[in-house]
Amino acid sequence: MNNSTLAGQIKSQQGDYSIHVGEGILDKIYSLSKNEINNSRVFLISDIKVFSGLGTNIIKTFESNSIKVESLSVELDETKKNLSTVDKIYEWLHEKGAERSDIIFSLGGGVATDLIGYAAATWLRGIRLIHIPTTLASMVDASIGGKTAVNLKRGKNLVGAFHQPKLIIMDTKSLSTLKQREMNSGWAEALKHSFLFDKDLFNKFKNNHSKLLNKDEPFFTDAIKRSVEIKAEIVSKDEYETGKDRIKLNFGHTIGHALESATSYSNLLHGEAVSIGMVVAANISSALSYCQENLVDEIKNILEAYNLPTRIPKNINLDNLYTIAKSDKKVRAGKINWVLLKEIGESKIVNDVPDQVVTDSLRSSQ
Ligand SMILES: NC(=O)c1ccc[n+]([C@@H]2O[C@H](COP(=O)([O-])OP(=O)(O)OC[C@H]3O[C@@H](n4cnc5c(N)ncnc54)[C@H](O)[C@@H]3O)[C@@H](O)[C@H]2O)c1
Repeated sequence: MNNSTLAGQIKSQQGDYSIHVGEGILDKIYSLSKNEINNSRVFLISDIKVFSGLGTNIIKTFESNSIKVESLSVELDETKKNLSTVDKIYEWLHEKGAERSDIIFSLGGGVATDLIGYAAATWLRGIRLIHIPTTLASMVDASIGGKTAVNLKRGKNLVGAFHQPKLIIMDTKSLSTLKQREMNSGWAEALKHSFLFDKDLFNKFKNNHSKLLNKDEPFFTDAIKRSVEIKAEIVSKDEYETGKDRIKLNFGHTIGHALESATSYSNLLHGEAVSIGMVVAANISSALSYCQENLVDEIKNILEAYNLPTRIPKNINLDNLYTIAKSDKKVRAGKINWVLLKEIGESKIVNDVPDQVVTDSLRSSQ
């Protein structure tokens, strides 16, 4: 195993695992995964958008090492993240005779890691899984930590399971085909990690934003590695989100999810909605004097430097938005657990923010 690409190690009750990050690292997919494959059969399930480029190369690499790959590509985006797509995967796994000792590789963005992860969690009560995330959002966030999910008509990610992969392989070169807007959306989650946990990373994001936007190496891969490392540390401390660590990753998501829902998941990408949600949370933090006022501007400025929106769209009804936020699946006994910032690198959870403070902060963020 090539240790220089090792970006994180997750401690999990389901088995510890490694995360490898590197430019062009998919060329080494066989050596990185051969111990996990052992003698089992390999089932590669890909987002159709990345199959012809990345998927076919992966198959060639395995076949040149005498490993036969069964392969399925499916259309995967937020509108396809449902049980009927999972059912297609079950049908295919059944047709191909996939057994519990076999192994699934997921290839694609966060929809792929969530949905194929869910299929792997439930096929024969759980089959081993390796993630190959291909979007920035899935690299720094979705593929790490074992949360899998699909959407129901009644809401996002309502059905899911914790199913940790055995290995995650992230090739930063695979991001070269990703649309710029999707890249920006992924930066929102990486920036979030720096706001919550790492002032040095925040300063790197601040001082090197044009290099990072240009994907200049080694800055680009290093920033992804550090962000991955942060998520790995948090998940290892609080695998099932029962403590006070993993829930902090929800920073900006209360209003972010409400914005996605209010706009029917069609106008804002996830990271864009989270970006606006982080500004609202920073405004609440400042209104309650948990942080200094200038922190709000610092957060806004850096998000804007990464081409992310920082204002709630004018056509959004704020009362309606707050009502949606209160129905989020993370609300406990009718109270929102707000993740608020004290300073860069330090946050706290507060569940008694007065309604007036929230509505004022929403207004000043529009
Ligand atoms: N499980 C978790 O902890 C977690 C965390 C964050 C987000 N998520 C989930 O992740 C999803 C969002 O992830 P996403 O932003 O990666 O969305 P996505 O998977 O829909 O990918 C975005 C778009 O990029 C395309 N794509 C993927 N890789 C590509 C590549 N290399 N080149 C060109 N196009 C490519 C996809 O087909 C899609 O159209 C949401 O469903 C969200 O709920 C999960």
